Amino acid sequence: MNDLDVGIVGASGYTGSELIRILAEHPRANIRAVTSEAHAGKKLQGLFPHLNGLIDLELIRSGDMDVENDVDIVFLALPHTVSMGFVKEIWNEDVDVIDLSGDFRLSSVEDYEKWYSMEHSCPELNDKAVYGLPELFRETIANARLVSNPGCYPTSAIIGLAPFLKEKLIDPSKIIVDSKSGVTGAGVKVRTSTHFPNINEDFRAYGIGTHRHTPEIEDVLSIYSGSVVSIQFTPHLLPLDRGILSTIYAKAQEGTTEDEIQEALHSHYSPEEFIRIREEPPSLKQVRGSNYCDVHAHLDSRTGNMIIVTVIDNLVKGASGQAVQNMNIMKGFDEGTGLRTPPLMP
Ligand SMILES: NC(=O)c1ccc[n+]([C@@H]2O[C@H](COP(=O)([O-])OP(=O)(O)OC[C@H]3O[C@@H](n4cnc5c(N)ncnc54)[C@H](OP(=O)(O)O)[C@@H]3O)[C@@H](O)[C@H]2O)c1
Repeated sequence: MNDLDVGIVGASGYTGSELIRILAEHPRANIRAVTSEAHAGKKLQGLFPHLNGLIDLELIRSGDMDVENDVDIVFLALPHTVSMGFVKEIWNEDVDVIDLSGDFRLSSVEDYEKWYSMEHSCPELNDKAVYGLPELFRETIANARLVSNPGCYPTSAIIGLAPFLKEKLIDPSKIIVDSKSGVTGAGVKVRTSTHFPNINEDFRAYGIGTHRHTPEIEDVLSIYSGSVVSIQFTPHLLPLDRGILSTIYAKAQEGTTEDEIQEALHSHYSPEEFIRIREEPPSLKQVRGSNYCDVHAHLDSRTGNMIIVTVIDNLVKGASGQAVQNMNIMKGFDEGTGLRTPPLMP
């Protein structure tokens, strides 16, 4: 098998720089092009001193990347809308694409236009995109040209709920997903709402009933389980750099036992390298810097509710690590290549 030439579009952002950190150590990937509009012409290690000695490349404008000759696969670490424009531009080139934005995550273009409040600029490509959650859709990812990498909150919610919905152990209409994220989830740009004094030692909910990850979680879980899934999703902003912890509440179907819950969890996830079943509720630091999603599930026999807790690093399993996992699957590499970094604890 040949090695792979990789382009990273949007390399100056958080998920872009995380892709570089992971791919710099990947034995089969060569990073050939890194792009930024704002920092074109600068050395990458000038912008990111932590990458000194790992990589020596100059940032170029995305329009200057020679997609046809220089790269076999392109990661798009761009804001939504910008991303779909780029996919449209390079679609006729012989190149695979992994898009980290939300532009191709929903199966219905109408739903995209409703939740993202904008027209989709290439609806004809939406059906070509495969949702890139390896633990659920590995076979289709392997044959895809365009992989739509999942959102960070959806990764934590979908992994937590999928086994129990698939095995019909919970009511698909009575689910609450209560998620908390570190600030890197909002991207590198400084905003008043994420500025240090405004988030430090504070904690708040946002996007109640309107967050764009709501239809993504419902859509993917409905397709996977074959039932119409409806969730109440509330994200919160934690005064931390990285990490998402989701506490998920679901009504167990009448007669469901703790043994059935554990059996569903183990039959779905024991074979999975990057999902760890935990007997105690996991914490954010226990997955920090790694591609793991840790899952704990418990049936409260007093209330008949299931409580599921998941944790991920939003920049790794929630974005760039999962994107590299998808690349490994698409290219027939061992799925964990370049991703076996242990969590940074404490
Ligand atoms: N952060 C997360 O935890 C996370 C998790 C999952 C998915 N995502 C998704 O991944 C994507 C990237 O997220 P991020 O957090 O890395 O964002 P970010 O930190 O804001 O970085 C965005 C990147 O896009 C580039 N960019 C912005 N506008 C552009 C334009 N018009 N043309 C070309 N390049 C442009 C920026 O480059 P310059 O400004 O340097 O030109 C920058 O490199 C987003 O769609 C996000 O929703 C993020």
